[in-house]
Amino acid sequence: MMKPLLLPSAIPPLKTLPPFFNPNPSVHILSSIASATLRGNRISGRISTLRTSASSQSASSPTETIDAVVAEIPSKMKAWVYGDYGDVNVLRLDEGVSVPGIEEDQVLVRVVAAGLNPVDFKRRQGKFRATDSPLPTVPGYDVAGVVVKVGSKVKNLKEGDEVYGDISEKPLDNPKQFGSLAEYTAVEEKLLAIKPSNLDFPLAAGLPLAIETANEGLEKAGFSSGKSILVLGGAGGVGSLVIQVAKHVYGASRIAATSSTGKLELLKSLGADLAIDYTKDNFEELPEKFDVVYDTVGQGDRAAKAVKKGGTVVVLTGAVSPPGFRFVVTSNGASLAKLTPFLENGKIKPLNDPKGPFPFSKLVDAFTHLETGRATGKVVIYPIS
Ligand SMILES: NC(=O)c1ccc[n+]([C@@H]2O[C@H](COP(=O)([O-])OP(=O)(O)OC[C@H]3O[C@@H](n4cnc5c(N)ncnc54)[C@H](OP(=O)(O)O)[C@@H]3O)[C@@H](O)[C@H]2O)c1
Repeated sequence: MMKPLLLPSAIPPLKTLPPFFNPNPSVHILSSIASATLRGNRISGRISTLRTSASSQSASSPTETIDAVVAEIPSKMKAWVYGDYGDVNVLRLDEGVSVPGIEEDQVLVRVVAAGLNPVDFKRRQGKFRATDSPLPTVPGYDVAGVVVKVGSKVKNLKEGDEVYGDISEKPLDNPKQFGSLAEYTAVEEKLLAIKPSNLDFPLAAGLPLAIETANEGLEKAGFSSGKSILVLGGAGGVGSLVIQVAKHVYGASRIAATSSTGKLELLKSLGADLAIDYTKDNFEELPEKFDVVYDTVGQGDRAAKAVKKGGTVVVLTGAVSPPGFRFVVTSNGASLAKLTPFLENGKIKPLNDPKGPFPFSKLVDAFTHLETGRATGKVVIYPIS
């Protein structure tokens, strides 16, 4: 039986205000973000109105608005925890985990939805144990939620802000021991951005790590307007965003992508000009070659045969062959904020797996689905309660 986690810096209850979070998705928490701008490397956002009921159309006073979102912060919370590396069976739902304290550059986020990524289960399996944070671990990188407490050196975020982000700057290098699969998580302000005003929490929660990976890979590959790209794994969490970011942010001239037969139409709806069925065709045998091949599957050797002379191959996992390179994403709220307008204008559409969102209690089912390697878009956990 695993012992509950106890953090030395657990925070006492702050305020006694009515609970804010309602797990019923039909009761909308509406916010309109008046601005989400970059100041230097910092993000600034302001909630102009926030209504805790769809039927309540009257705008609250600023004081009521803040009070409504800063519900009582308990000293203990529910969180998923593992104390040993292994398969899904090491995961335990613990109701007595201490709410994390915050450093001066951090905010405390009440988690409303959390996204899963393959790195979550690879880490749990012990693949990164050499550089991992100590066990026991509360897993989870991606979060969408509400700021309920700010550290003394936090510049732009404030209580009540609706945010999203990947809470660990480096996913493999001492990632946060207390992650986002919990009711509360502590995260540096610089890793967060204001949640896109048009997206609900479950849609926002699936984005951070995957869209930052999509964007960073394209940037590192020197991708630019007029170039062509082949995306290996176009229906996955990262691949579905590579297609859209390449098209709408970078101005790709032509996009090809691979998937199994049943997902070819999806690839086209995401913006692919050519959808390749990997169960029937070998992409590297096609006469057409590409400026960039973006490999999210682990087919680096084959990918190198599909690239034009002078082009490059971005590899996220597995073998790398020249002219390929592999990189590991860095979480960065400022780059997330730069992508936010493309989400808010509807050009980039988050894709959440239709089997979800999975409620918090069904995390094991969610991981089991993700670990098949056949998820479509992002696997998201919601509500968190
Ligand atoms: N280096 C980094 O910083 C970084 C960052 C993010 C992710 N990653 C890694 O990148 C990989 C992808 O991540 P993800 O979040 O996109 O995973 P994911 O969402 O779990 O990917 C699932 C998708 O992969 C597709 N797929 C599986 N085999 C395929 C094949 N042979 N050809 C084409 N598509 C195939 C599946 O489509 P079908 O059902 O059609 O097969 C499914 O839609 C993972 O290994 C992850 O750890 C690395």
